[in-house]
Amino acid sequence: MEVLGIDIGGSGIKGAPVNVKTGEFTQDRLRIVTPQPAKPDPVAEVVAQIVEHFAWKGPVGVTFPGVVVGGVVRTAVNLHDSWEGVDAAKLFGGATVLNDADAAGTAEMTFGKGRGERGTVLMLTFGTGIGSALFVDGTLVPNTELGHLQLHGKDAEHRASDRAREEHELSWEKWAERVEEYLKHVEMLFSPSLIIIGGGVSKKADKFLPHVHLETPVIPAGLENQAGIVGAAQAAAQT
Ligand code: BGC
Repeated sequence: MEVLGIDIGGSGIKGAPVNVKTGEFTQDRLRIVTPQPAKPDPVAEVVAQIVEHFAWKGPVGVTFPGVVVGGVVRTAVNLHDSWEGVDAAKLFGGATVLNDADAAGTAEMTFGKGRGERGTVLMLTFGTGIGSALFVDGTLVPNTELGHLQLHGKDAEHRASDRAREEHELSWEKWAERVEEYLKHVEMLFSPSLIIIGGGVSKKADKFLPHVHLETPVIPAGLENQAGIVGAAQAAAQT
């Protein structure tokens, strides 16, 4: 079965048709720059443009960088406040809409490093924010939002996201200290059996993971950037 997956991010909106049995793209991915400000209508226009580009008539899955319950957006801290309360599923023409980290985690658990992993597995994505996806024996607990845990009285993602690394011009080693502190907090709360690091930094894991020491095994994701698109397609295939 083929499903169109679309991944909404703060800088780009990316889409590709996905074979949901293999997790592979069946056509080249299309990326369009996220309109600024990233309000509902302009973002919906880009989503529609991607659907049109692939002349898509079948199911569509869309990721969103915030809390989404039953297709309705509850938070969008890194996109635009006007999203709160918007029925994104309706706005995107009846698409299945879910949190971006939940989508990436779902793909990683099926086709990546989480495949066959039982117990409590956490996928944490480090980018503009920190996204989280919690799996218990392979079942997703959606919208966990662990990027907003408090560290030193601040949102953890303000200290330890990849954006924080860039903004504060931290060396990889210095940033790794912050990541380790954050992961230790998460480890204390969930006692996971595995932590998977996703987002753009997963490609650069050799620069910081050797400096991160935890009881729990911490590994980079296998799917890198396509995970969100694949997970969005998987979610739509299941509905
Ligand atoms: C949002 C999450 C999202 C993460 C990654 C956080 O700021 O609250 O919902 O998964 O960023 O985009």
